Amino acid sequence: MSSAPVGSAPVLEMRHITKTFPGVQALQDVDLEVRAGEVHALVGENGAGKSTLMKILAGAQPRDTGDILLNGQPVHVDSPTQAMALGISIIYQEFNLVPYLNAAENIFLGREPRAAVPGFVDFGTMYRESQAIIDRLGVKLDARTPVNRLSVAQQQMVEIAKATSRRSSIIIMDEPSATLTDHELRSLFNLIRQLKADGVAVVYISHRLEEIFEICDRVTVMRDGKRIDTCDVNAVNRDDLIRMMVGRELTQMIPKQVAPIGEPVLELDGFGRTGALTNITLQVRQGEILGIAGLVGAGRTELARAIFGADPVDSGSMKIDGAAVHVRSPQDAIALGIGLVTEDRKGQGLVLGMAVRENITLANLRELATLNFINGRAEREVARKYVDDLTIRTPSVEQTVRNLSGGNQQKVVLAKWLYTKSKLLIFDEPTRGIDVGAKTEIYQLMNELTARGAAVIMISSELPEVLGMSDRILVMHEGRIAGELSRADATQEKIMHLATGGQAAA
Ligand SMILES: Nc1ncnc2c1ncn2[C@@H]1O[C@H](COP(=O)(O)OP(=O)(O)OP(=O)(O)O)[C@@H](O)[C@H]1O
Ligand SMILES: [Mg+2]
Repeated sequence: MSSAPVGSAPVLEMRHITKTFPGVQALQDVDLEVRAGEVHALVGENGAGKSTLMKILAGAQPRDTGDILLNGQPVHVDSPTQAMALGISIIYQEFNLVPYLNAAENIFLGREPRAAVPGFVDFGTMYRESQAIIDRLGVKLDARTPVNRLSVAQQQMVEIAKATSRRSSIIIMDEPSATLTDHELRSLFNLIRQLKADGVAVVYISHRLEEIFEICDRVTVMRDGKRIDTCDVNAVNRDDLIRMMVGRELTQMIPKQVAPIGEPVLELDGFGRTGALTNITLQVRQGEILGIAGLVGAGRTELARAIFGADPVDSGSMKIDGAAVHVRSPQDAIALGIGLVTEDRKGQGLVLGMAVRENITLANLRELATLNFINGRAEREVARKYVDDLTIRTPSVEQTVRNLSGGNQQKVVLAKWLYTKSKLLIFDEPTRGIDVGAKTEIYQLMNELTARGAAVIMISSELPEVLGMSDRILVMHEGRIAGELSRADATQEKIMHLATGGQAAA
């Protein structure tokens, strides 16, 4: 385990930072001290204030009070441009890329290399240097690809390339790993080690505590807008961190309740699409949670999209409640009682400019309407119930979703789909970006779904969650089902064996 040079002076000090939004005290007298060459973790529950503190440091948000010092000198960080000039870079939790520009243009946005002819950009240099940065990150990606054609993970890598290509002394990474594959995560960690060796200070935000223990030197824990403590990572364990984050002991992390299993809700027979899915045959029953495990790229999201009608299929058949159906669009799927909580929740799940209440009830206004009038009070009550159940942190159900913290936005998407009362709900990475405490609440809601007879397909890369919540597990590999494991039989080792192309045991 490497650690920062002992006693090295702080490159950054934030002192007594306070920030209030209407109805929310986001930060209260927060101090943060970061040393050169250290990776400093910032952890806390959804809405604890992590992103707000970092946006203030990056000049993207004004603070109410408090001081920022770099190398002991007070500085003004009142705009992103100023922050950049001071050597502070940030990778935002919500990406900040320009969708119709390509990767290279995004990486060099605002500081394009100049050609000999005044007023012209030296595109040759820009592409060469961008490609070099991307290659060093170990990603397969052409720097000339427009950003709106990249996957979420690739966009994340462009964000990382953009932040690290500047000569920064402080790099803030706000949940950089949430969408990355294991391979990309390794590349990111190698990059972080290089940055560290160069004396760069990295602030690292993540809800995955194992990452904190792997890559970080010190950790600052936040709760309810306050700093709880800062400690050496070596001096604390996982339970200590969780206790500091949630302010109580978390006992039952995965509270599985087995529901009575009923009739098949969904049956697929020889379902496939050339190049993506081959011969998928499965069924999922009332009251059942079917876990789908596999490595990133194994075709799990493709399967979800195909069932939901978001992508076409060219072979096989599908039944809902025993009757053959043709799902040609998400509208068809929704009409049949199928819901999909996507991996890319911000892109596909929310109307950011609308209230929490409207987002939750949007997909199911029929339930609330009598004679075409929406019952406003009933709508608010429904929204309040989900805000309570999922502990969505918001001053009221009328808050614009854009103003919620990243994890709380994700909970709104979950609430929306839970409220549609679908008979089949497909969750693609349901707890990604969700803090440890709120994960348990999401599992409880899955229990409620199955208790009322709904069927659930849960795609997840978190093995403890797959093992803990599934009644049955399918493992996918290269677009096929590589094997099936019962709840009683499944272990991490067996899942990984199948996921990496190993044969099912006889
Ligand atoms: N622009 C805004 N307007 C109003 N409230 C805001 C705004 N930005 C953040 N907040 C509120 O400030 C609090 C802290 O939010 P912040 O985004 O800093 O949380 P976080 O720790 O990053 O959470 P997460 O883990 O979910 O990303 C939350 O209650 C959030 O709703
Ligand atoms: Mg955040």
